[in-house]
Amino acid sequence: MNDHAFPFARGFVSTPEGVAVNGVLLEDVAKRYGTPLYVYNLDAMVEAWREWTAAFGAIPHMVCYAVKANPNLAVLQGLKNAGSGFEVNSGGELFRALTVGADPSTVVMSGVGKRFNEIVGTIEAGVALISVDSLEECRRVSEAAAGVSRDVDILLRVNPEVDARTHPYIATGMKGHKFGLGPDEAIRAVKEAANLPSLRVVGFGMHIGSQILEVEPYREAVSNLLEVANVARPFLRTEPKYLDIGGGLGVPYAEGDTEVTPSQLLEPLRDTLAASGMTVIAEPGRSITARAGVLVAKVEYVKRTREKTFVILDAGMNDLLRPMLYRVSHTILPCRNPHAPAQDPVDIVGPVCETADTFAEGVAFPKVKEKDFVVIFTTGAYGFTMSSRYNSRRLPAEVGIVGNDMHLVRRRDFYEDLVGAERMLDL
Ligand SMILES: Cc1ncc(COP(=O)(O)O)c(C=O)c1O
Repeated sequence: MNDHAFPFARGFVSTPEGVAVNGVLLEDVAKRYGTPLYVYNLDAMVEAWREWTAAFGAIPHMVCYAVKANPNLAVLQGLKNAGSGFEVNSGGELFRALTVGADPSTVVMSGVGKRFNEIVGTIEAGVALISVDSLEECRRVSEAAAGVSRDVDILLRVNPEVDARTHPYIATGMKGHKFGLGPDEAIRAVKEAANLPSLRVVGFGMHIGSQILEVEPYREAVSNLLEVANVARPFLRTEPKYLDIGGGLGVPYAEGDTEVTPSQLLEPLRDTLAASGMTVIAEPGRSITARAGVLVAKVEYVKRTREKTFVILDAGMNDLLRPMLYRVSHTILPCRNPHAPAQDPVDIVGPVCETADTFAEGVAFPKVKEKDFVVIFTTGAYGFTMSSRYNSRRLPAEVGIVGNDMHLVRRRDFYEDLVGAERMLDL
């Protein structure tokens, strides 16, 4: 049997010995580092970033990886070395970007609720652009910038009021959402910001949601964004220089799912973006890391009840929250014989004390037994980063594959990590 590639994974293939990445068997990685275990194809992440920058071609651009998707330092390091900028959403994400040596002039700080100290820290670090979410925040940035000798450059985040046609929890650009300012309010904010000291509006931004698999919402949103930029132009202290189109490009999670590449997304926008004369900023997260990561888990039990068979894994909702939070399914296969014929339906569940702790319900799954390893695909984005220690479970380990070498890029928690920040009372 030849190696078989999975469309929902980058570089992970099924071989006669089992699922492998760059010639490394996932079973071997799991045996070495234990489970649950995130495994990242770090080369594939860089390749995905390169696809983004290549898709822009001659249009002046910055591809700023959205750190929230997967903030592991080794991930950021690889992308930084390839030339990536970063979109950060908190002081913590900025700290991570700076830790890997990111050049602050390639960083965009966004977020809907920045604290005063985060804004001060962002300015002091020399971050290129702050994406400001409201007029209230413009005032706060102006105040925070008062002690600095230069003007602080901001992008105004516009809510372009379009339906990104994605899961409602991750749609962020419709009327009534908390993000950005609607077109009229944005123009009012620009007029008022012109009178605020120490701050210049140098561009406009948007982010309409995540896991978007259609081009049309982007087309409509970019057109609304450019309209705001044009109407606002006379009130700006400088020509608008940046157009931030956000992130949000989706990925396939299962065989047969739609795929939209960065160039397929940008092609219909190319003329408009080029004609704007602005540097276009993209903030992709999921489309860079999702498919280059998997979560490997071990089967603890195969529990047969009168009603159902449960495959109980050692990974739970604390390790990977997406299936429970968004009610979405990830492709799950046994590591050893991923294409073995499917048997009667099973529920694939975790060990956490919640019925919500279910990865898949009533799915036909190849026969597995205790101690077998399974792989949960497309978990390189919004996987580990959303994990928690719920049920006092230890945060999983993360391994990065480079070439065909494996590197532990985050050790598994020790039990001591669970209580390390706590203090008992002096009773
Ligand atoms: C402002 C901003 N930019 C970029 C992203 C990255 O989105 P995605 O991972 O869908 O590309 C997000 C995600 O929530 C975001 O809020």
